[in-house]
Amino acid sequence: MRIAIASDHAGFEQKQQLVEFIKGLGHEVTDFGPDSDERVDYPDFAERVGHAVARGEADRGVLICGTGIGMALAADKICGIRAAVITTPEFADLARRHNDLNVITLSGRFISLEENKRILKVFFAGEFEGGRHARRVAKIMALDYEKPQTAPAAPHVTPIRRSSLAEQIDAALDEKLGPVTPADGK
Ligand code: RB5
Repeated sequence: MRIAIASDHAGFEQKQQLVEFIKGLGHEVTDFGPDSDERVDYPDFAERVGHAVARGEADRGVLICGTGIGMALAADKICGIRAAVITTPEFADLARRHNDLNVITLSGRFISLEENKRILKVFFAGEFEGGRHARRVAKIMALDYEKPQTAPAAPHVTPIRRSSLAEQIDAALDEKLGPVTPADGK
């Protein structure tokens, strides 16, 4: 299979070793980076692997960050991607058989390299069962095309307190000019 792989700084060390491990299993590997353990933003790398899988340039994707959670959140935003953080071989097996997972995300900080190797072996070998699961997966994928039902929530922004200098200027202007109201009274 053609495997696309990437990590962030927290998953870098495991990624380097997993690339060799996956090649050793006989797969073709494209490493989308990073090339060092310098601090990076995981969505940038989830995007690269997600696009490679969604475009059919890779058969499966592997993403490693500290927990695997951020990578899964980011990759799942890409149309056509079914990504989840997997922490046991049993979940890897079910995620293939029931969910047709096409991108696996791994924890480089909380799961050992040896356990992640076991997880990947199962992930690559697992086949989708289809049947009733195909109907459910089709319903998941239909959500990719659903129009937004609600406006996206405004990002949480901490209000900036007006400086006392700005307040003093406002007060001085009010005193001098009187309250400013539009000419038409609206
Ligand atoms: C990076 O510190 C960490 O937040 C990242 O690797 C990942 O765990 C996010 O989900």
